Amino acid sequence: SDIRQYAATGRLPAASEVDGILERARERAFRHHEGKVADYIPALANADPEVFGIAITERNGRVHQLGSYDHAFSIQSISKVFVYALVCEVIGHEAALKTIGVNATGLPFNSVMALELNGGHPLNPMVNAGAIATTSCVPGNSAAERWEFIQSGLSAFAGRPLAMDEDVYRSEALTNQRNQGIARLLNAYGYLKGDSDETVDVYTRQCSLLVDAHDLSVMGATLADGGVNPVTGKRIVGEQVARDALAVMATAGLYERSGEWLVQIGLPGKSGVAGGLLTVAPGKGAVGSYAPRLDEAGNSVRGQVAAAYLSRALGLNLF
Ligand code: DON
Repeated sequence: SDIRQYAATGRLPAASEVDGILERARERAFRHHEGKVADYIPALANADPEVFGIAITERNGRVHQLGSYDHAFSIQSISKVFVYALVCEVIGHEAALKTIGVNATGLPFNSVMALELNGGHPLNPMVNAGAIATTSCVPGNSAAERWEFIQSGLSAFAGRPLAMDEDVYRSEALTNQRNQGIARLLNAYGYLKGDSDETVDVYTRQCSLLVDAHDLSVMGATLADGGVNPVTGKRIVGEQVARDALAVMATAGLYERSGEWLVQIGLPGKSGVAGGLLTVAPGKGAVGSYAPRLDEAGNSVRGQVAAAYLSRALGLNLF
């Protein structure tokens, strides 16, 4: 009954009960041994596939966490959500809709075909093309200023200064010819503001920012809270922007698996190839998790299982 009450009121059951629910989420997740740690970015291949961390931050700032919730990993594609929110705040809802787009691609995150099929339009900020287009809209007079805007903005979402993983950054910078190709195509079609190589460099840096499962939950809870970080009390983005960011997560946050995710979990989600996964319950809070083995679309296998259990156990499904 506590749980049904949570669905209705947004208040979680007592902390001890939530701890039990988190334990059961981990137990469900560890029934799964399939999936592979990402290796197309060489530095990510070193991750220990058995590490698991999970954290919930509620809209009132209460935190529940378990396992290696403080294990640092690179944020990767989960950065796309927050850079999109920060850019929307600057360029506005209408311009973001027009120049970046919000429709699902139904294709892998690094698809070039999605671009070509749509006259070069990036389509959605959760896939690489749209995220690179978004990063190209970051304000600043130099790459250094644009990077500072992103690093300080994502730090404000997390409520603490986030640092970059230099090894991951270097490793990806040496091997991201595909993203460079996507950026050049965007440029050729007129959807990139600024220089393509410089934009990809800033994008690669944003993907290399180090977070843990706890940070992800606070960042997500800021969106659940209409743009106010529930731990620091600071407003980071406006309410409309927070809503837009959650909506685009729902459209393509898990790439070509986004429909299955929405049917199974019923909440906006966003994955990253290092193994992070963010699930947001609008108006209630957010779950951050880390488990590096990925499915074929690049989404954490154990993270998805844990999110599905929590969504059911806490009555979070929006539908
Ligand atoms: O651009 C890339 O390929 C990586 N920096 C991020 C991709 C990613 O995280 C896809 N997600 N699951």
